[in-house]
Amino acid sequence: RRYRKTIIAGNWKMNKTLSETRAFAEELKPLLGRPKWCEVVLCVPYVNIPAATRLFKDCRIAIGAENCHYESSGAYTGEVSAEMLKELGVKYVVIGHSERRQYYNETDFTVNKKVHAALEAGLRPIVCVGESLEQRELGVTLELINYQVKCALAGVPAEKMRHVVFAYEPIWAIGTGKTATAQEAGEVCETIRTIIRKLYGARVARAVTIQYGGSMNPKNAFELLAQPDVDGGLIGGAALKPDQFVEIINAAN
Ligand code: G3P
Repeated sequence: RRYRKTIIAGNWKMNKTLSETRAFAEELKPLLGRPKWCEVVLCVPYVNIPAATRLFKDCRIAIGAENCHYESSGAYTGEVSAEMLKELGVKYVVIGHSERRQYYNETDFTVNKKVHAALEAGLRPIVCVGESLEQRELGVTLELINYQVKCALAGVPAEKMRHVVFAYEPIWAIGTGKTATAQEAGEVCETIRTIIRKLYGARVARAVTIQYGGSMNPKNAFELLAQPDVDGGLIGGAALKPDQFVEIINAAN
């Protein structure tokens, strides 16, 4: 674990207005302890990013975006580029979340292009991979993960890998209250590290942070994070509540 950072990241999805973001910050600050070992990130809707970078600065929470476009500028109405995010002080960007794959035609091909765009702009991509319930039941989870990870990383040079984060998010565990067992999460995160090792060697692989996401909460966080290859969490629902988010951060320390 000393080779890599533990990262606890909240993914707010399409939740919280500006005033709700302010209220969250006010409630969170007194609950947060002194600086911890793990890095804490909040990925918030685009429109709340400028406020969030100010609101969470003094408690050392880094801000992330939930998506970006793969071009740096151009005729893409309604889209936001990685460069634009970088200039606002954004540090991380979630790429290929299953909700984007499901509702917005995100494919392994666009995920790869976005990973390149994020790295080029100086952002750290949090690349989401994960299987559906059908795929798990068919027994193809590890093959699928192998495919998703390889597609995401195609053309990414070894020296950029220290900026890449992976999140294993089994689709059947997202927002369902069903969590992968610590063993299931550990197995897939270990597989992701093995794939990276085969692509880039052991030194790169052991430095990559691999998170688990899918109904992580204060009750199950400790056990999940105790798995040797689970280096953090990508948290949806529980990251909307300051007390729960802090409990998960504490479990990581
Ligand atoms: O990206 C985090 C997410 O998809 C997990 O959501 O609500 O199950 O923690 P949730």
